[in-house]
Amino acid sequence: MLTRRTLLARAGAATGAVAGATGLAALSACDPSPTAEAPPATGGPGLPFGPHSWSSVRAQFALDEGYANFVAFYLASHAATVRAAIERHRAGLDADAHGYLIANEEKLDAAVRDQAAAYLKTGADQIAFTDSTTMGLGLLYSGLRLGAGDEVLTTEHDFYSTHESLRLREVRDGITVRRVRLYDDPASADAGDIVRRLRAAVTARTRVVALTWVHSSTGVKLPIRAIADALVAVNRDRPGERRALLCVDGVHGFGIEDATPEALGCDFLVSGCHKWLFGPRGTGLVWGSAAGWRRFTPIIPAFTPGDAPGRLATPGGFHSFEHRWALAEAFALHRDIGPAKVARRTHELATALKDGLAGIAKVRVLTPRTPELSAGIVCCEVQGYGAPEAVLALSRAKVLTSSTPYNPSYLRFGPSILTSESDVEVALRAVRSI
Ligand SMILES: Cc1ncc(COP(=O)(O)O)c(C=O)c1O
Repeated sequence: MLTRRTLLARAGAATGAVAGATGLAALSACDPSPTAEAPPATGGPGLPFGPHSWSSVRAQFALDEGYANFVAFYLASHAATVRAAIERHRAGLDADAHGYLIANEEKLDAAVRDQAAAYLKTGADQIAFTDSTTMGLGLLYSGLRLGAGDEVLTTEHDFYSTHESLRLREVRDGITVRRVRLYDDPASADAGDIVRRLRAAVTARTRVVALTWVHSSTGVKLPIRAIADALVAVNRDRPGERRALLCVDGVHGFGIEDATPEALGCDFLVSGCHKWLFGPRGTGLVWGSAAGWRRFTPIIPAFTPGDAPGRLATPGGFHSFEHRWALAEAFALHRDIGPAKVARRTHELATALKDGLAGIAKVRVLTPRTPELSAGIVCCEVQGYGAPEAVLALSRAKVLTSSTPYNPSYLRFGPSILTSESDVEVALRAVRSI
């Protein structure tokens, strides 16, 4: 395998090596048991990690113990193993960056790829690594081969990073971007209706369907598998280059849902690793199907050529390696706990929170109750409060939440593997009291 080191050595000897590499880009190519936890997460730092105790999971994170934190997903806190790995790599790089890279880059890159592939239950070659969801979306929507007149169908519900990546592409290449509304009232969103509205908006010119798995505006989780199935029918008689590819910003499902990209049926899954996975800040990935990667040309030169599409799509150049490499520890922690247990735990806490909020007269819950149409995000309105005012009032009651950066803006909770049943109780008491 060619590494940065060998690539640069060859490039020095003959620039043709780099040209050849770029040519390839044409790309042929947690409960006490995290099953049924009981005790509240009272474990402070120092409680050793045991995959059968949510308290011990919580204790791996240095979150301020004085707060019930429902915004930990926003930008990850690092687990003890992640912090230790970052410190180890940082010390090595600070001592002799050149020597540490030469001795370790290949094996540390491979460890990250292998852990990510095992977590996603996919081939390591299908994964590109990025610094964020936004970087992944920007690379993807810039690199997919589209021409003037080709159409991308997106929705009213996506985050700025999807809309702006597509707008920039529209400006550059004269493609057409259309938006469809998939539900009117999030609280009564319906899976069948969502699929019908999306299907009805696909035209003969649609080459890409750009969606977000879990909407950060409302907490609605799209039925991606059912949408993928509907697109199979659309694509049946289309040649490969004209198929409508299903591209998903997965960041608010990734690290919660026990669903592989292949099971979801999408062509691309883009995510940051620094939200619900609680990976190192400044990490992300793009997973692509073989058919998806065949429609992609990289934007930024890769430093690890070969014919693996994920590697060719991984921007080269030096990175904040200590964070990139500590991603292996973040995936390992999730795999030790077990993705199915993480999903069950997050859904149990989110459901308990929604049920409690729904019982408070001044609260309207926007996020659907069913786990089929929701994940960890819980959005609501509190009568008499704008979302930012509610966030402020709750923080005074030691409950950390956020307001959605959309219009309308809602109060947003993010129960996660770092919150407990008692945190949910504290939050409900606080909402009643404000
Ligand atoms: C749906 C969605 N996608 C992408 C992002 C941006 O993620 P990142 O900071 O990893 O680029 C956010 C919010 O931060 C979001 O809510």
